[in-house]
Amino acid sequence: MYLLAVAIVSVVPALCQEETYNYQQEFQPTYHQNDAYNPFFKETSQYKEEEKLQYSSFEQINHYLLDVERLYNGTVKSFEIGHSVEGRPIRGIRISKNPGVRKPALLLDAGIHAREWVGPVVAQYAIQQLLANASNANLTDGLDWYILPMLNPDGYVFSMEHPPARLWRKNKAQTFVNYCSGVDLNRNFDYVWGGPGSSDDPCSTNYRGPYPFSEPEAVAFGRFVLSIAQDLRMYLTLHSAAQAILYPWGYTNLVPPDWQDLDALAKKAEAAMSLVNGTRYHVGPTTKVVGLGAGGSDDWAKGAVGIKYVYTLELPGLFYPEKGFHPPTETLPIIAREAFEGIKVFAEHARNRRP
Ligand code: ARG
Ligand code: ZN
Repeated sequence: MYLLAVAIVSVVPALCQEETYNYQQEFQPTYHQNDAYNPFFKETSQYKEEEKLQYSSFEQINHYLLDVERLYNGTVKSFEIGHSVEGRPIRGIRISKNPGVRKPALLLDAGIHAREWVGPVVAQYAIQQLLANASNANLTDGLDWYILPMLNPDGYVFSMEHPPARLWRKNKAQTFVNYCSGVDLNRNFDYVWGGPGSSDDPCSTNYRGPYPFSEPEAVAFGRFVLSIAQDLRMYLTLHSAAQAILYPWGYTNLVPPDWQDLDALAKKAEAAMSLVNGTRYHVGPTTKVVGLGAGGSDDWAKGAVGIKYVYTLELPGLFYPEKGFHPPTETLPIIAREAFEGIKVFAEHARNRRP
């Protein structure tokens, strides 16, 4: 009887492919519970290069965006692009030195995959660096920044507040299978939606959803991108943990006609990143480096919107706990600095290049 129960219990997760439940009980979240403290929140005068970085809760991320808006009033504007399935706001900020004057713009996002906690850390670090570190002031001259650190709030909160779901990747939508929820938002975008590397099975971690843009998070982001598309020169989306700079396509083995332009710039960014601490990142087309995955926000931004320079920055983590999605907090400053060196190269290119 006992054996039978064990057999059933172990078959159900196998059917659902819910790898998210391979959870080790010892794990203790290390992000700050106290909203009053956010390591990213530093006034210019308090800025320290050695600042310890921490994972932050959804509330902390939102507070941070509102805090910087208040502190850098006039330069920073926060906005809401829409809501998640469970009604949480999806927020971002624009950093613009002369908000009245149209300029080229760069878009940076993170957190479309719930378990990739390091992405929002890097997005907030980038905000801090752009606003509080005087040596980066030139990066906001003649370039507007749109930064959205958390595109999938429901999945993120689930992954943080419900430890067995530490490795949750999708959003929290109901599906037509009662015991399998969630759509992989990075398979839900409307460019060759349904192609290889995406699943029609709601129990898969790559479930693409019932139709393109079926998910409110993806719709909100898509509409937002279209609303700023005319100025957008560059789209960077943060993921982990493949330690790579990827450019389209993810839906096919083919590469876009201008792939050599994307490749050359990615290599330049990687070279800058590697100078921080010797870390090397893979550079190449998504399909070649990490495999097929149709319906991503990156392919959509290039293929449907027509933004030339589109990159998925896969942050490191591979040899760390939680299948690489939980680099120890001591490693966060290095990961963040490396990423920011790359982001700087991309930003300079975005500003200097004509549309
Ligand atoms: N690890 C990311 C994912 O699986 C990589 C995204 C790359 N882009 C893509 N269109 N698959 O979504
Ligand atoms: Zn990802």
